[in-house]
Amino acid sequence: MKNKFDYKGKHLIESKKLSKKEIECFLNQSEKFIQLNKRKIKKLNLLKGRTIFNLFFENSTRTRTSFEVAAKRLGADLINVSLKDSSINKGETLLDTMTTINSMSPDVLIVRHPEEGISSKISKIVDACVINAGDGSREHPTQALLDALTIKKKFGKFKKLKIAICGDILHSRVARSNIEILSKLGCSINVIGPKSLVPKNIKKVKVFYNMKEGLKDCDIVMMLRIQKERIFKKHVPNKKIYFEKYGLDYKKLSFAKKNAFVMHPGPMNRNVEIDSELADDVTRSLIQEQVTMGVAIRMACLEILISNRDKNARGN
Ligand code: CP
Repeated sequence: MKNKFDYKGKHLIESKKLSKKEIECFLNQSEKFIQLNKRKIKKLNLLKGRTIFNLFFENSTRTRTSFEVAAKRLGADLINVSLKDSSINKGETLLDTMTTINSMSPDVLIVRHPEEGISSKISKIVDACVINAGDGSREHPTQALLDALTIKKKFGKFKKLKIAICGDILHSRVARSNIEILSKLGCSINVIGPKSLVPKNIKKVKVFYNMKEGLKDCDIVMMLRIQKERIFKKHVPNKKIYFEKYGLDYKKLSFAKKNAFVMHPGPMNRNVEIDSELADDVTRSLIQEQVTMGVAIRMACLEILISNRDKNARGN
């Protein structure tokens, strides 16, 4: 039997390796889960008997819990492992931890870790599917997919949309994954931030160091958190000055298109990169919608990867 999904990969690790057709496969497959998640009873048996591990070695609220909700709504068993409870604290290496968990025959390992490229290394030593839930500043593919799904639901298209990604681009895996995915879907992208927080030689985008210039004609303004945990002291801007120059408030939003929408992957630093009132203004802010779409997209990711794994196991 032919594999029914356009995405045929075993793992989901890098947005940059996804084709437009593969991205659309994840977005389209999410539609039925968006509907399911609006129902009173939100449970299916699609992944009944499957074992999924959440392996988070960096803090998370949205990604970890939405994968847990997604797995449980599909009927799978999900086990949470966090750094603070693991034997890594007794000196075990991360790869030894992964081979140990692999011996319990999991179907999917969802990994967040500060080391760039670690999900790819893990995928080479385990039998399970691996989903990269954020590796350092490098990639966060399911965040970019849920952002694309949020945009699709709001605008019904990607072509000709102009998106500004603003703030700490240098340390942002969300920015990197979004640039890959949104540009493949046909959006044009401006990145805006202070020189110290925009990578040199960044590709597929136009670079601005000034909000007024960069926000002109934008349909969506995606704000990013200042990643204090990844910033060396020399980069850390003064919060007040940063907000004045790069923090999004109603005045700066008026530089974008008249009805432009605001996005933020969370967690937010209120009144540092985004005005608190604007963040909560549901007529302009898609931030809560992003969280809702996160559950649907992660349900689609789990369904597609496990289905691909089953097909490969049967030799199809
Ligand atoms: N957007 C995001 O990855 O949020 P968490 O760190 O809360 O998972």
